[in-house]
Amino acid sequence: MSTLITGIGELTTNDPSVHGDALVIEGSTIAWVGTGSPAADTRIDVGGRAVLPGWVDSHTHLVFAGDRTAEFGARMAGKPYSAGGIAVTVGATRAASDDDLSAVVSRHVAEAVAQGTTFIETKTGYGLTVADELRSAVVAGSHADEVTFLGAHLVPPGADADEYVSLVCGEMLDAVAPHVRWADVFCETGAFDEDQSRAVLTAAAGRGLGLRVHGNQLGLGPGVRLAVELGAASVDHCTYLSQSDVDALAASDTVATLLPACDLSTRQPLPEARKLLDAGVTVALASNCNPGSSYTSSIAFCVATAVLQMRMSVEEAVRAATLGGAQALRRDDVGVIRLGARADVHVLDAPSITHLAYRPGVPLTHAVWRKGVQVI
Ligand code: NIG
Repeated sequence: MSTLITGIGELTTNDPSVHGDALVIEGSTIAWVGTGSPAADTRIDVGGRAVLPGWVDSHTHLVFAGDRTAEFGARMAGKPYSAGGIAVTVGATRAASDDDLSAVVSRHVAEAVAQGTTFIETKTGYGLTVADELRSAVVAGSHADEVTFLGAHLVPPGADADEYVSLVCGEMLDAVAPHVRWADVFCETGAFDEDQSRAVLTAAAGRGLGLRVHGNQLGLGPGVRLAVELGAASVDHCTYLSQSDVDALAASDTVATLLPACDLSTRQPLPEARKLLDAGVTVALASNCNPGSSYTSSIAFCVATAVLQMRMSVEEAVRAATLGGAQALRRDDVGVIRLGARADVHVLDAPSITHLAYRPGVPLTHAVWRKGVQVI
């Protein structure tokens, strides 16, 4: 089955050699992009609307149970965010059944897809026992495109930190590694220090996993430096950066993944996107959808925030939320519209991507194809 999409008013491809006002989807891939009207089984005229690659959300924590509305309320009343809140979700997640967890992930993936997200990463990290991390990875893998092991999210309350790090690096990693592509660590005051983070990341790399780091979220720290040193694909948050962090990122192929919805929801400053981009760092934007620090699946909100408050251009923000996310996940088949790419296509109910920032908060998703299937 092939589908021709015509009448594209503005086409964002993220590939400077690919232009046009029409494209053909065949099976799960893009089979043609250009100007004209080749034969196809089905033809859809989008009436001058803007078309872009589906959002690539490279940072979410969807395997959870429970609710942290009260913590959010306390934060809005002035209480600072701290890593310790994770323990509340750990308790609820351990108490939930596999079916309950699966329903939560499925609901949030559907919510994201309805807003134009076509590729989604999610993490373990609210189980923190071998059995709960393993089932979190299995549940995640049945709904998300990429799965990350985040056993090193928090030292579980009551546990000894060194013993817990040994568990993560040994038995837990052995159990979870076959079900994930990535390993991550929350390298931050109140979570894991540099030595502990290095131990987890080194053990994960030894099992063949790609590396990611939560770093520099709540203050300056070793996260970015460590991510670059160990060749991580991405370091996520980057809210507090020294000049040497920026220089290290610019000289590396580690992507700086910015999570502006999280910074707003935790009353942190927004990351210095302009400084990173001007230094030549590859930047991604992601939702960080989780029940504690950033309970939104809306990449459009992140894009609008990046433009309105972080001085990214619309083009930079859209690129960061599509191609940037793909680069953060080391994928070359998504986040781009070109021959052979995965057919992940987002049609806006607007003539240009500028409307994403010009009309913030307005649901602009008109149609979505995910892996060649029209889902919206
Ligand atoms: O990316 N920073 C660590 N992990 C999550 C927050 C998790 C939570 O508060 O439940 C994040 O913001």
